[in-house]
Amino acid sequence: MGRNVQFFDTTLRDGEQSPGVNLNVEEKVAIALQLEKLGIHVIEAGFAASSPGDREAVRKVGEAVQNPTVVSLARAVRSDIDAAWEALKTAVNPGVHVFIATSPIHREYKLNMTKEEVLNQAEDAVRYAKLFFSHVEFSAEDGGRTELDFLCEVVKRAIDAGADVINIPDTVGYLSPQEYGNIFRYIKTHVPGIEKVKLSAHCHDDLGMATANSLAAIEAGAEQVEGTINGIGERAGNVALEEVAMALYTRASYYGMETDLQLSEIARTSRLISKMTGMFVPGNKAVVGTNAFAHESGIHQDGMLKNAATYEIMNPETVGQSNTLLVLGKHSGRHAFRDKLSQFGYAFNDEQINQLFHRFKELTDRKKVIEDEDLVSLIEERIGEE
Ligand code: KIV
Ligand code: ZN
Repeated sequence: MGRNVQFFDTTLRDGEQSPGVNLNVEEKVAIALQLEKLGIHVIEAGFAASSPGDREAVRKVGEAVQNPTVVSLARAVRSDIDAAWEALKTAVNPGVHVFIATSPIHREYKLNMTKEEVLNQAEDAVRYAKLFFSHVEFSAEDGGRTELDFLCEVVKRAIDAGADVINIPDTVGYLSPQEYGNIFRYIKTHVPGIEKVKLSAHCHDDLGMATANSLAAIEAGAEQVEGTINGIGERAGNVALEEVAMALYTRASYYGMETDLQLSEIARTSRLISKMTGMFVPGNKAVVGTNAFAHESGIHQDGMLKNAATYEIMNPETVGQSNTLLVLGKHSGRHAFRDKLSQFGYAFNDEQINQLFHRFKELTDRKKVIEDEDLVSLIEERIGEE
C-alpha cells in the first residue's frame, strides 16, 4: 500500500467558527478525547490568542490527549505564538499552526501589506515559533487564490525558517479539484526543500467540492488532510473528514493510500459533535446521515436482500452504525415487506401476505414513513378478523 494520510481535525477551531456554535472547555475536552479514539493525528484545539476561555480550552485539551499532536492557531505575529506556547507548554505533544494571508485580495484589502512584507512576516513568525515548538505548521491563507510564483516564494521562506508542515488552504472553497491538485503538483516541483516538509490540504465547501478537492490534493501528493467531523465550519463548512476517510478506505485500490483511523468510531464521533455543537446532521449526509444506509425503493430493497453490495458500497458496521435500514414506504416491495414480517416472528402464507401488502400500500398513501407499530397494528387487525 501507499502513503499513510494524516488527519488533522479542526472541529474545535474552524468547526467552532460555524455561526451559533460555542463550545465550553469541558465540551472541547470530551470531543478531543473522542477524536483521539478515532485516531486523529493532529487536533487543532482552538485559537489561544482569541480569548482567555479558548486559551484554557487549548491548555486542557493539550494535557488531556496522549497521542495526537495538539495545536493552537496563531496569526503570524509573536504575541499569538506566545499565547499558543503559554497554552500548550504543558501539553503532551504541543504544536502551533501559524498563518498569514497571501492572496492579492487579502494582501490589499485585509492586510494592507506588500508581497515583501508578507514574506518577511511569515518567515519571522515561523522562525520565532520554532524557538518553542518542535511541530510548526505554516498556512498560506487563501493560498488557492494566490499567484503561484508568489505562493512558492512564501512556502520556500517558511521551509527555510523551519516549518514542518506546509498547508495550502482553499479558504473560500473556490477551486475545482483539478486546479487544487495542480497547485500541489506545482509546489512539489518548484520549491527547493519541499521534500523536507509534509504538505497539507485544507478545503472549504462553498461550492460543494471540499471532499473532491481534498482527494485531488492527496492524489497530487498531500500527506495531511485538514477538516472537521460532519463538515461543520465557516459558511458552508470545512471538508467532512469522515467522507475523505471513507473514500480512501472504500476506494483503496484506486487511491492506493492507507489510513490508520479507527473507522468504527466515526458514527459515535459524529453523534457526539452534533449533540455538543447543536448542529444537526442532515439525513442524506454522506457516511453519517441517518439515511446513509437506508433503502426505501422496492427495487433497491429487493437487491439488498439478495446481496447488500448491489446498493451499498460501504458496510454500516465499518463506520460504527448499527445496521442497514430497509425503510418501509410507498416505494417498498413485497420482498422487503415479507422480510419485515418475518423479523416480527410472523409466518403468513402467500394469500395472507398479499392481503396485508395491499393494506400496507393503502397506508403508505396516507403516511410517509411506516413505523414498526403501524405494521403491528395492521397484523393484529388482520389476525382479529380471522
Ligand atoms: O481556511 C483557512 O484558510 C483557515 C486558515 C486559518 C488555515 O482556516
Ligand atoms: Zn479554514
